Amino acid sequence: MTWAAGLCGRSIVERMQRPTVRLASTIASTVACTAAQAAGRRGNVTDAIAAKVSRKLLNDPCSPLHHLWAQVKAHFAAHHPAFAHFQDDQPVVTVRQNFDELLFPADHPGRSAHDSYFLDEQRMLRTHMTANERAIMAEGVRRFIVAGDVYRRDAIDCTHMPVFHQLEGVSIFTPDELAAGTQQPPLPEGLEELIAGQEVPAGASRDAVRLVMGDLHGTLSRLMAALFGEAVPMRWSATTFPFTTPSMEAEVFYNGQWLEVVGSGVLRAPILPPSVPAGSLAWAFGMGLERVAMVLHAIPDIRLFWSQDARWRAQFAPPSGGAHGRAWERRRFVPFSKYPPIGRDVSFYVDEAVAAFAENDLFDLIRSHADDLVESVEKIDEFVDGRGRSSRCYRITFRSMDKTLTDAQVNAIQDAIRASIASSLPGVTLR
Ligand code: PHE
Repeated sequence: MTWAAGLCGRSIVERMQRPTVRLASTIASTVACTAAQAAGRRGNVTDAIAAKVSRKLLNDPCSPLHHLWAQVKAHFAAHHPAFAHFQDDQPVVTVRQNFDELLFPADHPGRSAHDSYFLDEQRMLRTHMTANERAIMAEGVRRFIVAGDVYRRDAIDCTHMPVFHQLEGVSIFTPDELAAGTQQPPLPEGLEELIAGQEVPAGASRDAVRLVMGDLHGTLSRLMAALFGEAVPMRWSATTFPFTTPSMEAEVFYNGQWLEVVGSGVLRAPILPPSVPAGSLAWAFGMGLERVAMVLHAIPDIRLFWSQDARWRAQFAPPSGGAHGRAWERRRFVPFSKYPPIGRDVSFYVDEAVAAFAENDLFDLIRSHADDLVESVEKIDEFVDGRGRSSRCYRITFRSMDKTLTDAQVNAIQDAIRASIASSLPGVTLR
């Protein structure tokens, strides 16, 4: 039994179909308390991150993510009625689910505490929704979409936060379906070559893989057209994921630029749980929701998704009367006045003989003091001085999305950041 299923004594599918409110608060307190207990061991979930776990933006009727997810569900209901819809607001999974069962190699960087959030040796905040796929398939669900929150330690700028939301889709084809589909139409241009250049899952025929890839391509093309407009240009390229082969990613051309929106492929044989009939093949895809919502609504900063400001919320509140027309789905965000940024630099020496310096530790430390008041952190200088000491300087830009920050407020945060750097980053000495 997985930890997740064990927590509430229900199957994962049943759990996701139930209202999540009570469960949500249990999880939030579990994460907060376990992170605190685990502090000093391997646990590295900061309070700033634990606070995000309980927000459940997909359930918030004033969040653009809620509307995007609703639009995706409506699209699947209309065009792919066989797909079940799940929402999973419980991001704590096992390391096995997130990495081992998905064939991530032992030395994959995602496994390190620099890149991911761990509660302890066994449990972590999922880095992708793929972590939940096997458990759903194991319950006998053959076709589904699932959305939820995922966590990755990351840089600080207007398009990156350590929490975001992903949509994942899976479709399993049984041996009978594969055999029945041999009269498939020719594959779209480019797809044949893309498949030919890659391995196929153990035991699968190339023809079966062509069928599954063709269906994946069609499904994603229709989804992109529904989201970005019928004529949206798309391009496809080969890529790699540890758990799929062949693998491909799709980009759409929108607002004058190519935007990478979805990673996908045919699941490798060991990913399918034993309850799936032998000889089946499945496609899967994963898509970041913030990135799509940001371009559709011209949202300039990813922190806005977490804003509680009425001027943000009012713009995405459902229209009275409930009519969700196309224009409403595409409406552009109107920035409320932009508040002035305040920059502060922090410089320090790093003694790598004491400890390797990990930028993500610095970013999390800054977020734990400044939370969503920090807009970006950039390395502006790095040098080795005459005595062989390595020095780094970072520019922290503070900016609130809903008020003007005063120098005094920023100084207080900056002082706290400096004190934490001095006391908690090993081998680092402030300059
Ligand atoms: N999990 C992958 C990611 O987060 C996306 C993906 C999902 C790729 C399913 C292939 C299949 O980037």
